Amino acid sequence: MASRTIIPLEKKIFAAALLFCIAMLGFIGFAALRFGITVPGCVTDVKPFHESSLTKKAENHYELHAVAKMWTFDPARIDIPTGTTLDIFVTSIDVNHGFHIDGTNVNLTAVPGAINYARVQFNRQGDYHILCHEYCGVGHHAMYALLHVSDQVKEAKLESESKTSEAAIPVATVLPPVQLDQKLVEQGQKLFNEKGCLACHSTSGIKMLGPTFKGLYGSKVTLSDGSVVVADDGYIAESIRQPQKKIVKGYENIPMPPLPINDDEIKALTELIKSAR
Ligand code: CUA
Repeated sequence: MASRTIIPLEKKIFAAALLFCIAMLGFIGFAALRFGITVPGCVTDVKPFHESSLTKKAENHYELHAVAKMWTFDPARIDIPTGTTLDIFVTSIDVNHGFHIDGTNVNLTAVPGAINYARVQFNRQGDYHILCHEYCGVGHHAMYALLHVSDQVKEAKLESESKTSEAAIPVATVLPPVQLDQKLVEQGQKLFNEKGCLACHSTSGIKMLGPTFKGLYGSKVTLSDGSVVVADDGYIAESIRQPQKKIVKGYENIPMPPLPINDDEIKALTELIKSAR
């Protein structure tokens, strides 16, 4: 096979290309040093990619920036006046999530690093559930937010996801202190992770979709019907087995799915709850 020789014209073209490259780098360097022009940073570092916001554009016209994350939406609740036109921009900070507003044709995917958009006008009063329709892990089924449309609302507002609230931690007053079985607590912690309890309950007092375990054991719990019960072993076992039977006040809208669980597992989880007093 004959070896290929480089003809003089090719040499000139190479030289010219090299010169252009050097000139371009030179211009960039000159612009950066002389005029302080910088290359844009990572777009996901800017605010709309990790923080929710609601901006008034005109009378009855708002712009909503929503952020999806495992396993909540920020904002968790939006109140808008009837007749509002809402420009919705959605993104995610972790994995792909869905963003469907029940009762409307808004059906977006929340994609990390990208923003998706929809406009919708809310002419009908009511509660619209925002649901995640893209499987995103153990807490997927509980990932939802609420859009409340009402004549009563004069100015639109949003509530970001619930933050740690001292008031949400019940005060243990009723039952005496208990001796903990550390091995059982560890088992309970393992189950807490494996069964997906952690998607909706915290042991630290942070208010999530379900009541926190912090201070729960032995405390007085107010139910949705206004009655008060003591969170003892029986109540905890019943709440795990038949979550719908006694709903804690303030959690009416979020039904907990019942899970397959045996007596030993309930004992371990109860021990974990006791340890979070
Ligand atoms: Cu988020 Cu499914």
